[in-house]
This record gives sequence, structure tokens and C-alpha cells, in this order.
Amino acid sequence: MAMNTVLWLIGLFCSVLFVSHGVEASHLYYRNLQSLQSTSIPKNQPYRTGYHFQPSKNWMNDPNGPMVYKGIYHLMYQWNPLGVVWGNIVWAHATSTDLVNWIHHKHAIVTSEPFDIKGVWSGSTTFVNGKPIIQYTGIIESNQWNYQVQNMAVPKNLSDPYLVEWDKPAKWNPIMKPTDGVNASAFRDPTTAWKGPDGRWRTIIGSKIDRKGMAIMYRSKDFIHWIKARKPLHSARNTGMWECPDFFPVALKGMNGVDTSAMGPLVKHVMKVSLDDTRHEYYTVGTYDHVKDRYIPDQGSIESDTGLRYDYGKFYASKTFFDHEKNRRVLWGWINESSTVEEDTKKGWSGLQAVPRTLWLDRSGKQLMQWPVREINSLRAKRAILPSQVLKRGSVIKISGITASQADVDVHFELPKLADAEIMDPSWVNPQLLCSAKPASAKGKLGPFGLLVLASKKFEEQTAIFFRVYNNHGKYVVVMCSDQSRSSLEESNDKTTYGAFVNVDPYHDKLSLRSLIDHSIVESFGVGGKACITARVYPKLAVGGGAQLYVFNNGTQNVKISSLKAWSMKKAHIKY
Ligand SMILES: *[C@@H]1O[C@H](CO)[C@@H](O)[C@H](O)[C@H]1NC(C)=O
Ligand SMILES: *[C@@H]1O[C@H](CO)[C@@H](O)[C@H](O)[C@H]1NC(C)=O
Ligand SMILES: *[C@@H]1O[C@H](CO)[C@@H](O)[C@H](O)[C@H]1NC(C)=O
Ligand SMILES: *[C@@H]1O[C@H](CO)[C@@H](O)[C@H](O)[C@H]1NC(C)=O
Repeated sequence: MAMNTVLWLIGLFCSVLFVSHGVEASHLYYRNLQSLQSTSIPKNQPYRTGYHFQPSKNWMNDPNGPMVYKGIYHLMYQWNPLGVVWGNIVWAHATSTDLVNWIHHKHAIVTSEPFDIKGVWSGSTTFVNGKPIIQYTGIIESNQWNYQVQNMAVPKNLSDPYLVEWDKPAKWNPIMKPTDGVNASAFRDPTTAWKGPDGRWRTIIGSKIDRKGMAIMYRSKDFIHWIKARKPLHSARNTGMWECPDFFPVALKGMNGVDTSAMGPLVKHVMKVSLDDTRHEYYTVGTYDHVKDRYIPDQGSIESDTGLRYDYGKFYASKTFFDHEKNRRVLWGWINESSTVEEDTKKGWSGLQAVPRTLWLDRSGKQLMQWPVREINSLRAKRAILPSQVLKRGSVIKISGITASQADVDVHFELPKLADAEIMDPSWVNPQLLCSAKPASAKGKLGPFGLLVLASKKFEEQTAIFFRVYNNHGKYVVVMCSDQSRSSLEESNDKTTYGAFVNVDPYHDKLSLRSLIDHSIVESFGVGGKACITARVYPKLAVGGGAQLYVFNNGTQNVKISSLKAWSMKKAHIKY
């Protein structure tokens, strides 16, 4: 689960009386807002999404326990039934047959027992002999702050594909306690468990000792009695608290997913952690030594905030599950707002889930690839096509005939004159800083070229997603940027610009860009899913029919559009 920094907000929305650093913390407390009884959300909702998963109202954070069971997809999530800020968390529960349209059920897990009376935080589902079992973090009554234990929950009726009723066996819970020197306030978010060749189950829990983040491991023969391993599965210095770890195998070849217990020569393993300190996630690809029960990241992996990320924009507390029906691994991630609490209160909600993504190992074996699950294509409606053409330097071409505020667009570029790329400045090691220093208005040679989304008619507002290509001693470097600096006339939003280097050789591969545009969210996938950037934007003018879509080239060199397709997207049906 998520959060940092304890804020006591006294007075409506603002006056921060006391900000406690040092006490690490888990969750943002807006005391007075928490107690507000939530009202229905206002009618005029320019920022509500059309095809992203979001609850009817109020605060949502981490995706929990995703799975597919008897052909039904389940998404549970951390939800505050009473307000737009974090608090009063329950496990809300929705199901779907296609990962696009959803029906809500009663909450799967709520606080009720001594072992979770103060909170039901994030967790995962594991199939044990074909039966789904949830492990989640419970907060218990204690003098110590946020005392965390792990619990289990089992379906009451396995014949019910919707798994509406869950039982939390009091006889066994809690199944793991923070003994043995584990910090009780830093012990949360159990992963999907896996079974070793010795027949024992393993699961990991996010934790830390001082500044060293770690994944504490537990083993069990029966999935009820768990014993802590002497050593963590993995740890990394100076990374702080590891929230929502995820540990899973990926096939060496192909795009198919594999079961979480798969191991051996045909797979690599991935370890992802969400860093409470930076609110970013990073992952490494590596090897799981199941004899020593240790994970070893591949050489060259960076184990910190500057390492590989699923998403170089907003994306946190993510979790994958193996979809055994379609043989793929699917990733869910929480996308928070970039607006103020005051704005969130006005609109009556806060938080989205990213469109679920299929995830697999890139052919290089060094990084993951991600792509929106194909079911999302079923929402594609009216289509616009731009014929193959040269996109001249300085040009901006409008893509007409679709609903630009709720769209899917996919463009492929060719670079006929690569030799003209600018020389890479060796000091540009941080792509986000490079993109911030060189927004869409900074002319380059090869680039910036890409998409202008949620743009107003006179370009007072625009969000630009683009590439720049550099020459670094004869090797090409491609950076992908999502520039929010002009995304809204409203000043109070967080308009941070994001960036990522894309590991691609533009000499051999086209530079493609797909963006899922949905009113206040833009999810962009560079070069078939090698780099992803998610942004939240809140335009004032570029809303509804006022929003436009363009392809642009602000470099001094021409580039070629080899194909561009864009679709209006239909609304997903979400029943509350
Ligand atoms: C335990 O974790 C909490 C929350 O992160 C932190 O405030 C506290 O200093 C930690 N205690 C120790 C002994 O490390
Ligand atoms: C279990 O679920 C099945 C399928 O929904 C239903 O027919 C049956 O009545 C349920 N059993 C109980 C005890 O609720
Ligand atoms: C949410 O958004 C804010 C502002 O845009 C950011 O500072 C914060 O760290 C974000 N992430 C999470 C996971 O809370
Ligand atoms: C291209 O650069 C010019 C000059 O800096 C700027 O005015 C214009 O807005 C830029 N175009 C886009 C699409 O950002």
C-alpha cells in the first residue's frame, strides 16, 4: 500500500499545521476530510474518464488481488467509501469478462476482526490447488503506530464465479506477525505466492531495516502456517521502504506469460518494488536461485529510483497476475491525480487504474515490454487515417473526425536522414531532466516530433508526447518525452514533464507511438511498449469537443509518417 508523510490538515483543505517527516509513514492523513460524509459527484465532469477503471466516487489507490477465476476477471482495490482522500480503506471488488467493462459487488474485505480492525491494506491472490486465496495486510490495535500483520481470506462459495463472499478464518489469522526484529510499521503488501521444487510455498512481504529496502520471505507447506526465512529474498541499500513488491517469472522467448511458480532455464525472473520514498517503482530482470532462495538481478541492473521503470510518468503500487485463460501476464497500476485536494473534492473522486497491460520480456532479455490488453481495441469506433507522408519541419497536422478527448492513436515514423541527428551531450543522463529542459517548443534537428493531444483550438493548451533522436559517437539515442508544461491554463496542477530513454536503434526500427487519451489521462507507449509514460492533465479549454489531436514536427529536419491511425473510443460500462 501506499503513502508517505503524515499531514494533519486542520481547517478546510489547507492550513498544514504540522508536517512530520522522520516518522515514515504510510498514509496521508487528512483528518477532517476523512470524516466528511461523501455526497454524490457533481454532474459536470470534464475529467472523468470514459474507458479507464474508476469507482463511482471518492478515493482509490492500489489494485489488489487481481485474478481470473472461472472465466471472470477480478479486480479489488483500496477504496475510501467516505471521501476523496486516503482513509477508511476497504477492498472494493469488481468483476469483468473482458477487462474493459466491469460490475461491482459488495466489498470483498472490510475491517472487522482483531487481526484487521484498524485497516485492510494491499495484498494478492494465489491459486492453491485451484482455489484462490487472498493474503493481505491487516492493521491491528496497538500502541505502536500502524502495526502490520498478514492475513488470509478464502472464498465462501467456490461455485460462485464472482467470489462475492470472503471468509477471514479467525482460527488462522494473522498468518504472519512482525517478529524476529521486523519493524511492525514496515511490514506489508504480500505478493502472489509461488511453489518451489520442494513443494513449499513462498511469499514475500515489503519491508526495510533503516534505509535498506527488502523483500522478507516466508515459506509454508500448507499455505496456513508460515515460517519466516532467515534471509530476505532480496534487498537493496538506501532504497527505503519497499511497498507492493512483485516477483514473477517471464518467458525467455515470446509474449506468453507463465505461471508464477514456473522456474528453470526457459524463464527469467522480475522483481518490482514501489519505493515509498520517491513514489516511483523500479524493476530488475534477473535469476531466481531456488536452492538458496535468493533473487540475483542481472549484471548492470540499476537498483534504485533511476533503474528501469514500468512507466516513467505516474504509476504506482502496481501488481501483475498470470491470466491462465489467455496465457499472458497482466499488469495493473494505480495512477493518482495531479490536481489539488481541493480540486479532487470538487470533482468528488481521486485516482484511476491504468488500462491493464500485457507484459513480457523484450528480445534483448534486458527489459520488459508492455502493451494495452487487446480487449481494449473492442472500444475502437470511428477511425481516422493519415496517408503516409512527409511530416515537414515545423508542421502541425490536425487529425479530424474522431473524438479527440477519448481516443486511441497509433503513429509510426521513419527517419530518412538519421545522419542529421544532433550530437548527444554526455551530461544528459536523466531523461526526465532532458525532457524538462527541452520541451516541445525547443527546436532540435531530429525532433521533437510526435503527438499533440488534448490541445485547444489555438494551442493555449496542449500535451505533447514526442521523440528526439541524438547521435552519441555514432550510436543513436532516442528519448521519449511527455510534456505537460502547457497542459492546462489552471496553475495549481502538477505539470511535471516526464521522459524516458528508449532502447531502440532507429536505423533498423521505426519509432512508433501509441497514446490512449481519456479526458484527464494520457497513457503513451513508445516503440511497441519499450517505454511507457502516463500523465494526468486537466485542460480548461481542451475538454470534450474543444479537444483536438495533432501530429507535429518541431525539428529542423523532415521526418516521415509511415502510418497513422486514430480511433474514437467508446465508453466502457462500469456498474457500481
Ligand atoms: C519502523 O518503521 C517506521 C515507519 O517507517 C519508522 O518510523 C521507524 O523509525 C522504524 N523503526 C525502526 C526501529 O527502524
Ligand atoms: C454458491 O454459488 C452458486 C453459484 O452462484 C449458487 O448457485 C449457490 O446457491 C451458492 N451456494 C451458497 C451456499 O450460497
Ligand atoms: C501522486 O501525485 C503527486 C502530485 O502529482 C505526487 O507528488 C505523488 O508522489 C504521487 N504519487 C503517489 C504514488 O502518491
Ligand atoms: C514549436 O516551437 C515553437 C517555437 O518555440 C513554439 O512556439 C511551438 O509552440 C512549438 N510547437 C509545438 C507543437 O509545441
